[in-house]
Amino acid sequence: MVGFWHDKRVVVGISGGIAAYKAPALIRRFREQGAEVTVVVTKAALEFVTRLTLQTVSDRPIYDDLFSLSQEQDMGHIRLAQEADLVVVAPATANLLAKMANGLADDLLSTLLLARLGPVLVAPAMNGAMWRHPATCRSVETLKSDGIAFVGPGHGSLACGDVDTGRLVDDTVIIEAGRRILEPNILAGRTVLITAGPTREAVDPVRYMTNRSSGKMGWAIAKAAVRAGAEVTLIHGPVSQPPIAGIQMIAVQSAEQMYHAVQDHWQVSDVAVFAAAVADYRSKYQATEKIKKEKKGNQLSVEMIQNPDILASVAQWRKEAGAGPLLMGFAAETGQALEKAQRKMVRKGCDLMVVNDVAEPGVGFDVDTNRVVVLDQAGRNLSWPLGTKNWIGTQLINVVARVLNGQGMDVMTEAPPDERVK
Ligand code: C5P
Repeated sequence: MVGFWHDKRVVVGISGGIAAYKAPALIRRFREQGAEVTVVVTKAALEFVTRLTLQTVSDRPIYDDLFSLSQEQDMGHIRLAQEADLVVVAPATANLLAKMANGLADDLLSTLLLARLGPVLVAPAMNGAMWRHPATCRSVETLKSDGIAFVGPGHGSLACGDVDTGRLVDDTVIIEAGRRILEPNILAGRTVLITAGPTREAVDPVRYMTNRSSGKMGWAIAKAAVRAGAEVTLIHGPVSQPPIAGIQMIAVQSAEQMYHAVQDHWQVSDVAVFAAAVADYRSKYQATEKIKKEKKGNQLSVEMIQNPDILASVAQWRKEAGAGPLLMGFAAETGQALEKAQRKMVRKGCDLMVVNDVAEPGVGFDVDTNRVVVLDQAGRNLSWPLGTKNWIGTQLINVVARVLNGQGMDVMTEAPPDERVK
C-alpha cells in the first residue's frame, strides 16, 4: 500500500533494555506501512532479541559492529546516519540517553547518532526510578535542547513488576510521532477553530432532538491541523470520538452553546472550519418537567424556533470588523449539490465550501469515508475521489494552508491513489 511511509528510509536503533523484545513488532509495522527499515543494535540489545528475529522482520542484514569491515563496507555508519529520513531509537535506555547527551560514541549505534544531522526520535523505556533519576533528567533536558524528539515513556506495569512511568509506548504511537516529525508544519503559528459533531436540542429534561453526525470529519480535520503545526480549538457537540492530544477541546450540547463558544474564539483564529451539523431549529420551550403522555393525550406538538446560523454570524461579524479568519463551511446536499452549495456559500458569506452529496453510498454521516468537492468564491473547485475522512481531512488542511499563503486552490497536488482509501 502506498502511504506516508512508502519509500521512507528509517533506521531503528535498539538499545539493551527488556523492552527490546517489542522492537520486532515496531519494525514490522513500519515495513507494513511501506518504510525501508535498517536495524542497528547494541550488543546488550542482542541479549534480549535475536539477530535472526531482527533480520527476518527487517529482511535486511543487522548492523551492530563498528569495527566489522564487512558491515562498514556494506553500509558505512556515516552513510547510514546521513541517508535515513528518520532515526528512531526504541527502546532507548538510560545508558544510551546518557551517552547521546554527552556525545559518546563507543559502539555503532551511539556513533551513528553522533554523526546524525537529520531528525532523531527516541522512545525511552526503563524502570521508573531510573527515568526520574536526576542524571537521566539532565540527559533528557540536554537532548531536547539539542533537538532530539521524545515519545513516551508511558505509564503502566513495568518488567520489574512496578506500576510506574517507564514503559515503551505502543508502536503505533511511535510511528505517529515519527510522521509528525517528517510532515512539514504548513500551519505553524496559525490558529484553527473547528466545529464538529451534532447539536442536541432539549425538549424536556430527558428528551432531545439531534441528528446522525458522528463528528468523524471534524475530528479528522482537527488531527490534520495539529499535525500541520496549528494551534487547534475544537468545539464539538455530543460525540463518542476519543480526545485529541495537544488541542483545546470544548464540549457543548446545543446550537446556542456552540454559537457562544464560537463567539468567544473566532477573533483569535486564522481559520474557522464549520464541520458541525448544527440543528437548524430548537424547541421554543424547554419543559422543566418530563412531558407526560397522560397530560398530552395522543398528540403532542413541539413548537420550534430557528437556531442562530453560526457560520453566517461569523461571516457577518468578520465583515463588520473588517478582518477575521478564513471561513470554510460544509454543505451536505442531496442532488445538484454543487449548484446548491455555491449559492449557500454566497448566502452565508464563507470563503470555501466543502460539498458532499450525502445520497451517495459511503458519503456523509457516520461513515469513515467521504467524497467531497471544495468550492471557492472565484468559482473554482477541487474534487477528490472517495477517500477516508482522515485522508480528506489532510487534503482540506492542505487547501487551507495554500489559501492562507496566497497560493489559491489551483496548485493542489494529488496524493498517491492508495492513500485515499485505507
Ligand atoms: O445551512 P446548512 O446547515 O446546510 O449549512 C451548513 C454549514 O453551515 C456547515 O458548515 C454548518 O456547520 C454551518 N451551520 C452553522 N450554524 C447553523 C447551521 C449550519 O454554523 N445553525
